[in-house]
Amino acid sequence: MRLEGKRVIITGGSTGIGAGVAQRFLKEGAKVSVWCRNPDNAKAVAQELPGLTHVAAVDVADAPGVDVAFAESLEALGGLDVLICNAGISIRNNFVDIDREEFDRVMRVNVHGVFYVSQLAARHMQAQENGGAILITASTSGVTAYRYYADYNASKGALLAMMRTMAIELAPKIRVNAVNPGYTMTPMQEAEYSPEMLQRVNGIIPMGRHARPEELASLFVYLASDEAAYASGGVFTLDGAESVASGAATL
Ligand SMILES: NC(=O)c1ccc[n+]([C@@H]2O[C@H](COP(=O)([O-])OP(=O)(O)OC[C@H]3O[C@@H](n4cnc5c(N)ncnc54)[C@H](O)[C@@H]3O)[C@@H](O)[C@H]2O)c1
Repeated sequence: MRLEGKRVIITGGSTGIGAGVAQRFLKEGAKVSVWCRNPDNAKAVAQELPGLTHVAAVDVADAPGVDVAFAESLEALGGLDVLICNAGISIRNNFVDIDREEFDRVMRVNVHGVFYVSQLAARHMQAQENGGAILITASTSGVTAYRYYADYNASKGALLAMMRTMAIELAPKIRVNAVNPGYTMTPMQEAEYSPEMLQRVNGIIPMGRHARPEELASLFVYLASDEAAYASGGVFTLDGAESVASGAATL
């Protein structure tokens, strides 16, 4: 019970990494409010994880909707100790084929969405005695170039830059960290893979496979817990050595 009594919001918490984190946080004793984009997912996650305190169907790119969902979550949880900004989208396209609407949408969800929610959380946490922790799911793509994802890569790089500034401005009351997953097997990946593609991608990861959401969840538990009291401004990569392997000599 490493998160006993912690009050937590997880955006994008109905599928993939976010759902793995929600499930594990419940086991660790947290009170959890999950935010989902899709009302059907909201119903499904409420049934699958009956221990949840609250579920909201909200688009994180919609500022007024975020205000309402945040107020509802605070009320249901009785406060907020940990925010996990995890909602995100990616669209595969050549740089020259990305249309302006796609670019705007990726930025609005991945960057504006994190800004809207984390600013509300920071204001709330600053006003409470025990502060809090904000965790942002960025990506190795915020650091390394991946073909066909110029907008997504740019959005994740922006999150890392914002996280660093938040960490210094909000210290010492609020800890702010980023988690950089590498390839993780979730609906986001499954939507894009053929079996051949999966095999090819596994081939470039020294660990030989994708991460599982529950492996990410273990890292989130640590960063949300009081064991991580000195962790702030950090980028925590979990990628099976994929980023350090690119450019490595193969003999
Ligand atoms: N899967 C990977 O390989 C990988 C790698 C690096 C980073 N990530 C990041 O991890 C996070 C979770 O992704 P995932 O892989 O679990 O995929 P996913 O598609 O299962 O999860 C993304 C979640 O965000 C939600 N979402 C999307 N747009 C939203 C919006 N406008 N408002 C509210 N919620 C919205 C979706 O409903 C979904 O639940 C994302 O930020 C993603 O960029 C994933």
